[in-house]
Amino acid sequence: MISVSEKSIVVLISGNGSNLQALIDAQSQRLFNGKIKAVISNKPNVYGLERAEMANIDAVCVDHTEFNDKAGFEAELVKTIDAYQPDLVILAGFMRILSSDLVQHYLGKIINIHPSLLPKYKGLHTHRQVLENGDKEHGTSVHFVTAELDGGPIIAQRRVKVDENDTEQTLVEKIQQQEHQLYPEVVAWFCAEKLTFKLSEDSAAARAVFDGKVL
Ligand code: GRF
Repeated sequence: MISVSEKSIVVLISGNGSNLQALIDAQSQRLFNGKIKAVISNKPNVYGLERAEMANIDAVCVDHTEFNDKAGFEAELVKTIDAYQPDLVILAGFMRILSSDLVQHYLGKIINIHPSLLPKYKGLHTHRQVLENGDKEHGTSVHFVTAELDGGPIIAQRRVKVDENDTEQTLVEKIQQQEHQLYPEVVAWFCAEKLTFKLSEDSAAARAVFDGKVL
C-alpha cells in the first residue's frame, strides 16, 4: 500500500468555532491523517481563537477592519496562511466573502461547510428561510470553494427533519450536531487522498471526486 503523508491544515474562523472544536477533537483521536497548524480569525477575541490556544495550535488574528480595502486584507491573509504551507484550508464559520483571486490560489484545497442543503439557500439566514418556507427537511453541506458563493462542487450532505415546533435556535443545534460529525469525516477523506477536486476539460465546471467517482 502506498503511504500517504500527513496533511498540513489551516482553519479559518470568525467566531465560536464549534466546528473547529470538532476538528481538534477528531485530530486528537487521530480520525484523520492531518495536523491543524494554525487557526486564523478575521475577528479578534473570538472563542474559536481560545479553543486553538487551549489545543496548543497557533491562533492568529488578521483583523479585516485594520485594512483599507479587501485586497490589502486578503494579501495579509494569504501571507499568513501560506507561512504554514497548508495542503488543506478549511473554512469553519468564516464570515468574509473571498475574492476569486484568493479562491484560485487555493483551488482544490479549500473547503467550506454551509448550513443548508445546497444548492438551496446560499448565503445567510438559512434556518429562517427553511422555517418561513415550511420545509420538512433541512441539512448541511460540505463543498469545495470556488469563486461562486456557496456554489462549489458538493462533497457531502447530512439531512435533518424539521419538526413543527422547531425554531431557528433548535435548527442551529440540530444542524451543528450533524456538522460536527460530517466535517471531520470529509477531512479524513481529503487527508487520505480519496477526495479530490477536478476541473472539467473546458474548465467550465468543477467536480468533487471520491475514489475515482464523481460525487
Ligand atoms: C456553522 O453552522 C457553519 O455551517 C456555518 O457557520 C457556522 C459556524 O459555527 N458556515 P461554529 O463557529 O463552527 O460554531
